[in-house]
Amino acid sequence: MLSSKSIKAKDTILSSLSSKFFSVITPPMISMSSSNLFLQTGVTATGVPGSFYSRLFPKAFLHFAYSSYALQCLSKVPEEVVDMNSPSWNKGRIHYSKSADQVVKAYTTQYAKDMECFLNARAQEIVRGGLMAFVVPGRPNGIPHTEVFVNTATELFGS
Ligand SMILES: C[S@@+](CC[C@H](N)C(=O)[O-])C[C@H]1O[C@@H](n2cnc3c(N)ncnc32)[C@H](O)[C@@H]1O
Repeated sequence: MLSSKSIKAKDTILSSLSSKFFSVITPPMISMSSSNLFLQTGVTATGVPGSFYSRLFPKAFLHFAYSSYALQCLSKVPEEVVDMNSPSWNKGRIHYSKSADQVVKAYTTQYAKDMECFLNARAQEIVRGGLMAFVVPGRPNGIPHTEVFVNTATELFGS
């Protein structure tokens, strides 16, 4: 098993869902090695497939964890939004731009559960004194869901 002492500070580990691993992670790794990134900078890159909503690494393994524009992807669609008999049914839509409050609440609840899983997993994997940064799309206070770019764009696609 990998241990935090066996890798250098410049070692980089990329991760994505197993289903996306070979299309999302593998091509950048190939282009990194073909441009001789390691020889130029001493940075190595490794890939780990799996969901970031569960443990991916041993305890106290990571010194810096970074997630870019990925934590907006929920682990699953909340069951009630696809249940026609539920007050939270979202009428087949994949966004909640103009949906009922119950739909928004179902997505919010799922997001809170997912974030708890993500933070718990990273809390175990990051060394004491380590750092984490993540970038997620946000909505300024007072701006309705209908005016957020991601929602207006999804509405345009007719989803
Ligand atoms: C919008 S892309 C962002 C890609 C890249 N981080 C960037 O900033 O350009 C979202 C990425 O998150 C990954 N992703 C979504 N849910 C995930 C999960 N539960 N675990 C790991 N990766 C996930 C997707 O496979 C996809 O590669």
